[in-house]
Amino acid sequence: MSNSRRRSWAEPYKIKMVEPLKMTTREERERAIREAGYNTFLLKSEDVYIDLLTDSGTSAMSDRQWAGMMLGDEAYAGSRNFYHLEAAVREIYGYKHLVPTHQGRAAEHILSKILIKPGDVVPGNMYFTTTRLHQELAGGTFVDVIIDEAHDPASEHPFKGDVDLARLREVIDEVGADKIPYVCIATAVNMAGGQPISLANLRAVRALCDSHGIRIIHDATRVAENAYFIKEREPGCADMSIAEIVRALCDLTDGCTMSAKKDALVNIGGFLALNDDDLFDAARNLVVVYEGLHTYGGMAGRDMEAVAIGLHESVHYDHIKARVGQVKYLGEKLQGYGVPIVVPIGSHGVFLDAKAFLPHLDQDVYPAQTLAAELYLDSGLRAMERGNVSAGRDPETGLNRRPRLELVRLTIPRRVYTQAHLDVTAESVAEVFDHRDGIKGLSMVYEPPQLRFFQARFEPLG
Ligand code: F0G
Repeated sequence: MSNSRRRSWAEPYKIKMVEPLKMTTREERERAIREAGYNTFLLKSEDVYIDLLTDSGTSAMSDRQWAGMMLGDEAYAGSRNFYHLEAAVREIYGYKHLVPTHQGRAAEHILSKILIKPGDVVPGNMYFTTTRLHQELAGGTFVDVIIDEAHDPASEHPFKGDVDLARLREVIDEVGADKIPYVCIATAVNMAGGQPISLANLRAVRALCDSHGIRIIHDATRVAENAYFIKEREPGCADMSIAEIVRALCDLTDGCTMSAKKDALVNIGGFLALNDDDLFDAARNLVVVYEGLHTYGGMAGRDMEAVAIGLHESVHYDHIKARVGQVKYLGEKLQGYGVPIVVPIGSHGVFLDAKAFLPHLDQDVYPAQTLAAELYLDSGLRAMERGNVSAGRDPETGLNRRPRLELVRLTIPRRVYTQAHLDVTAESVAEVFDHRDGIKGLSMVYEPPQLRFFQARFEPLG
C-alpha cells in the first residue's frame, strides 16, 4: 500500500513576512472595474485579491536578497554593487560587457538605437510588445519567424519557441543580410504562452546566422525557465544543470536584453549585455543619456546587489522546479475543469484561450479583455489580456492586428502565492466558464497611440 501513497510536494521556502490582502464584495468590484474602464491595468492593486497580472517585478525576494539591499553602495560612480552584478552576469550568462538599465525596455531602447537603421528588418521568435515598439521607433520592422505551432494554442509541440529555419532563410534571402542588424531570440517566449526554444534549434539558428554574418540578440528575461524545460524535454539534456543549460543558450548568442524583474527575482532592474567591444562602447555612451552613469544605469546600488544575488538563485534547480511546478499545478487544475488553455502549460503563467472560451465573441469586441474583466468581477482575481488589444494596430492598414492568439494570462509571481491561492484562482475561472454563454464583449472608448493595452478604456456591450 505504502508504494501507492500520494507524496505531496511543497514549495522550497517558508514565509517570513506577510502582506495582508483586502477582500472585496461583488458590488465593490463592479464599481472598481467600471472606474478602471474594464482594463485590469487600471485597477488599484488594493482592490485586487489575487494579483496574476504579471510576474514582472512581483517576486518575493529572499532573505539573502534583502540582506544584500543593506549592502548598497550608493556612490554615483563605480558602485561596488555594479561590480558584483557584472561578475554575476559574466559567471551565469557568460556575456563580456554589462550595461545596467532600470528595466528591460530601457535595454531594448538602447540596443535598438545603436543597431537598427531605418528600413532594417528584425526577425524574431514572436514579438514582445515593448521590444517590437523600440524596433519600430528606431525605423525597423519586426518579422515573426517562430514556428507555426506557436500560434496554435492546442498544438502540443514541446518547443513552441523554436524558429522556423526555412522562414528565417527566406527573410534573409528576401531582404539581404545587410538589412538585418540582428535576429531577436527570446527564451520562454512570453506571447506564445511561456514556450521554450530548444538548444538544437538555437544551434541551427546560430549556424544560419553565422553563414550570413548576422548577430543574435537574446531576450534573456526568462532564460532559466526555458532551461528547465530543456532539461525536462530535450534529448541529451537531462543530466545538465540549469546553470549549464542557461550558459549554453547564452553562448549561442552575441548579447542580451534583460528584464531582471522576472527570472532574477527583483522588483526593479534590467540590463543590456554584449560581447562586442565596439557595440559596448556605443551602448555605454547612450546609457548616460537615457538612464544614468554606466555603473548604475537607473538602478540604486542596493537594487544591483539584489539582482546579482537573484541571478544566482534563479538557476537553483529546486527553485526553478517549484516555480514552473506551481504554474503546472494551476494549469492542470484548469484542464480538470475543462477550461481551454494553451498547451503545453508554459513557464510563467497559464494562458486561457479566450477564442475557445468565448467562441460567440468576435475578436474586435475583445474576448480576452472581456474575460479578464469577468474574472475580476467574479473573485477579485486580476489577469492580463494578451490578444487583440495587446497586439495593437498594423501601422500600414491602421486595423486591429487580430492575432491568432487571443489569450488571458494568469501570471504567477515567483514565491508569492500558495497552492490554496491557486485553488481559489482555478475555481473562479471555472465559475466564469460555467456562465460563459451570457458574456458579452467590450467596445474600446479610449485608445492611446502606443502600447494601448496599458491605458485603453472600454465599455460593456449590450
Ligand atoms: N521582454 C520580455 C520577454 C518581457 O516579458 C518583458 C516584460 C520585457 C522584455 C520588458 O521588460 O517590463 O522590464 O521593461 N514583460 C512584462 C510582462 C511587462 O508582464 O510580461 P520590462
